[in-house]
Amino acid sequence: MPLDRAEAATAGKAPNATWLFFKRWMDNPLRMASITPSSPSLSRIIARNIQREPDEVVVEYGGGTGPVTKVLLESGIPASRLFTCEIDPDLADYLRRHFPDVNVIQGDVCNIAELLPPQHVGKVGTVICGIPMVLLPWEAQQKIVDSIFKIMPPGRSFLAYTYSLGSPLKYKELGLKARRVGFTLANVPPAHVWAFTKA
Ligand SMILES: C[S@@+](CC[C@H](N)C(=O)[O-])C[C@H]1O[C@@H](n2cnc3c(N)ncnc32)[C@H](O)[C@@H]1O
Repeated sequence: MPLDRAEAATAGKAPNATWLFFKRWMDNPLRMASITPSSPSLSRIIARNIQREPDEVVVEYGGGTGPVTKVLLESGIPASRLFTCEIDPDLADYLRRHFPDVNVIQGDVCNIAELLPPQHVGKVGTVICGIPMVLLPWEAQQKIVDSIFKIMPPGRSFLAYTYSLGSPLKYKELGLKARRVGFTLANVPPAHVWAFTKA
């Protein structure tokens, strides 16, 4: 379902994030996974667990309408040091309009090593994976995990959030160590945040 630009123009402002998210969910429920954007509570848990040296950047996988992006900026990450990669062109467009100083990449995270400016490859302090990994087949999970370790220095963790009780990834099979770093009831649905490192 295309984004209703006429509706946005008539209102004189960008379409409401929750409504846009819901429309994208109706169009592609497996890719969106949730019917509503992440809450500030979930986003704050993510922000607290970011590791970044001053010369490093943070990369968000699956920016959606930007609720996590917003809290990352509020937590002090400079917009110039924040990249968000979103596959859906309408959502990427929404992110560009609402976060004009953040680096929005429209594309598939599997290609992030080619999409990210070369000077940042290997200089990504943390990747935040907002892709619904639990719904993906094994090969797709593996491709996304591989893409993450291509852009982070050795020894770093990436974060992923999930609505499942268990890990969103088959981490042992993927050669990873996993740690649950937070949980919030103040999200629809309640969500856990996990950190994954190479075993
Ligand atoms: C669960 S939503 C999370 C959105 C937002 N980060 C939030 O917390 O509300 C997942 C997002 O990942 C995007 N996405 C799914 N697969 C992707 C891929 N392979 N590359 C880039 N973005 C992807 C979807 O379009 C969607 O916006």
